[in-house]
Amino acid sequence: MDLRLTARARLTIALSLPLIAVLPLHRSVAAQGPAPDAAQTRFVDDLIHRMTLEEKIGQMSQIALNTPDNTSAEAEVRAGHVGSFLFVTDPARIDHLQHVAVEQTRLHIPILFGFDVIHGFRTVYPVPLAMAASWDPEVPAKVQRMAAREASAAGVRWTFAPMVDIARDARWGRMMEGAGEDPFLGSRMAEAQVRGFQGTALSNPDSIVACVKHYAGYGAADGGRDYDSSNISDADLQNIYLPPFHAAERAGAGTFMPAYMDLNGVPAAGNHWLLRDVLKDQWHFQGFVVSDWDAVRNLVTHGFAKDDADAAARSANAGVDMEMTSHIFRDHLAALVKSGTVSQATVDEAVRRILTIKYRLGLFDHPYANPNNAAARMVTPEQRAEARKAGARTAVLLRNEGSVLPLKKSPGTVAVIGPLADSKVDIGGSWSLASHPADNVSVLEGLRRRFPSQPNAVRYSKGVEIERTQPSIFDDQFPEPPLTLHTEAEKHAAFQQAIDLVKSSDVAVLVLGELMSMSGEQAARSTLDLPGRQEELLEAAVATGKPVVLVLLNARPLAINWAAQHVPAILEAWYPGTEGGNAIADLLFGDAVPGGKLPVTFPRSVGQEPLFYARYLTMNPGNVGNMYWDGPSAPLYPFGFGLSYSTFTIADLKLSTPQINAGASLEVTVTVKNTGQYAADQVVQLYTHQRSGSASRPVRELKGFRRITLQPGESKPVTLTLDTHDLGFWSTATRAFAIEPGTFDLWVGDSSTSTANHATFEVTHP
Ligand code: BGC
Repeated sequence: MDLRLTARARLTIALSLPLIAVLPLHRSVAAQGPAPDAAQTRFVDDLIHRMTLEEKIGQMSQIALNTPDNTSAEAEVRAGHVGSFLFVTDPARIDHLQHVAVEQTRLHIPILFGFDVIHGFRTVYPVPLAMAASWDPEVPAKVQRMAAREASAAGVRWTFAPMVDIARDARWGRMMEGAGEDPFLGSRMAEAQVRGFQGTALSNPDSIVACVKHYAGYGAADGGRDYDSSNISDADLQNIYLPPFHAAERAGAGTFMPAYMDLNGVPAAGNHWLLRDVLKDQWHFQGFVVSDWDAVRNLVTHGFAKDDADAAARSANAGVDMEMTSHIFRDHLAALVKSGTVSQATVDEAVRRILTIKYRLGLFDHPYANPNNAAARMVTPEQRAEARKAGARTAVLLRNEGSVLPLKKSPGTVAVIGPLADSKVDIGGSWSLASHPADNVSVLEGLRRRFPSQPNAVRYSKGVEIERTQPSIFDDQFPEPPLTLHTEAEKHAAFQQAIDLVKSSDVAVLVLGELMSMSGEQAARSTLDLPGRQEELLEAAVATGKPVVLVLLNARPLAINWAAQHVPAILEAWYPGTEGGNAIADLLFGDAVPGGKLPVTFPRSVGQEPLFYARYLTMNPGNVGNMYWDGPSAPLYPFGFGLSYSTFTIADLKLSTPQINAGASLEVTVTVKNTGQYAADQVVQLYTHQRSGSASRPVRELKGFRRITLQPGESKPVTLTLDTHDLGFWSTATRAFAIEPGTFDLWVGDSSTSTANHATFEVTHP
């Protein structure tokens, strides 16, 4: 389909609707990525021409290799049954299997090795939710570039990332893998990650092809329960859930992965509308679609397909090009093509897409891995430095009463307390499958390293442990770390020992939060409290009267109401990765100044979920904080919130014009001044609200941001460009995208609730 026609069609629909200026919403009409060159097309066409149906279906099959034995894998490769392997990360093994594919198969087609490089490979960086908290797209761009270098050094040229699911329900554990609740922030983070993974060209040996997942709406799972259905209105899908996917696609992402769940009753892996109508036809996506793990077979489990053959047919026809793990394509596609249920053209198109990505990666010219490549096996000083910087840049300071932080350079004695304080596993966060926890720096280690000649300056006591209360389907693969406190007496003694240590120290750093296994896949929670007896430990530590700093390691909002009122300093450090302990020590002692902002709203209780800032006005807007009988409805910490050791003013709001044509851009300028004592960062955030239109619009929507650094006393003008395309939306009333004329509010401030700089402007029809 020609996108210009789509735009024209949209315009035609719109012209029948008075008062609404419909313009194509998206700035560029063509999908990015290089136009196919003639040599590429010829090469791929020629190969397809020579392939048997079985060889084609082999290319459409991805096999998980999670046992050490190569025998059956080699046989599968020789039989032409493998287009891709996932979960092989050893360069020697990759190299070996690639030699089999290239030298011992009829057409010498190389294998594409894929892996979940989510926030690092051997070196681990802050989890994606933390990357979003940096409000600096250069952070994900840089760290995913570093991750791509390590992964490609091992021969892994494909990552199942970025995960760009918008998540507005903190119970959902996979919130950790994405950029949080906002489509604008999420889109910028999505593009940056694609840029980082894929580099300047896929053919660079250190580029890995991105896989945008989980397309689409996975984050809206009912009740936050992983894999549960998502029921999303057309408007929310178009305005909230799809934009980060489209942004990643326009940034040139090479592959897409449909989600596991039913979207409005149709499983994503069999959803023709999502995969063909939107992704391939409307967006002109040129890459290929890989299913999620067993998701093709699961079309039967969902009660959607009647049997495996039906699942294969509906998935392939819907637009899945490669099947991850369930072998349904391999077992049924040939018969389906012979019976005409799946056309030869559908298979050829899938294979063309897959081979084109292999070609663009340069795999036909340089298929092999270097079995001795040290870069894949070690955390280099350069990687460590980047991880440390990113760890500091992603933390969010939630409270700092009486300027407890930064700690004095010689603080006397420090008690480091809590079940996560000396954990080298948890600090890495979930989805760090190729990492070695021994490489990681725990918070305790990071703090101790600051006082090498004073072995007793930093003392540690665990206090409590976090015990899982429900079994996990991943227990076999990823068992929880063993508990060491068993009897009530042992638990009591450990608790007491920690509190005694606080009493005998000058300052206490409590490192609390969630085990890393409490977020990620299959990690939904039914409460958002600090799990186990951590809250009790925290309250007892504060009751000693010593200054307490709470460092949180977690990857979802937590309902920390008591702490928000009683603990003087709270630093949300997320899961910062390999250099986490050093990054946190840098922040606590002021060698780095927190400048991150929340990419998700923090609630007061789980009962408020889903909770997000971009809500709609109600019939009684004055009552928004008071919508429950038994507690406040306002959040604990709003989206975009975060403190600094310094202070800032944002003033002198100026708009380049009070009236603007739909399709044009507006310059919005403020002056930001660092009024405190530290060189520090501020994130300038621009929000808008459309006062009336064909449908109600959210009270505020983020439409621009910039993170800047200012020296003490320094002030700088900051200009953000508001592109009116970003004011467009898909309206339920018109069933079209439009930039509607009318009055808009605009705010520029340091969070989604700031009211200091407000203006209005008019959007008019050109
Ligand atoms: C997850 C995907 C992941 C895949 C391969 C699935 O269970 O949903 O996000 O990429 O496994 O590890």
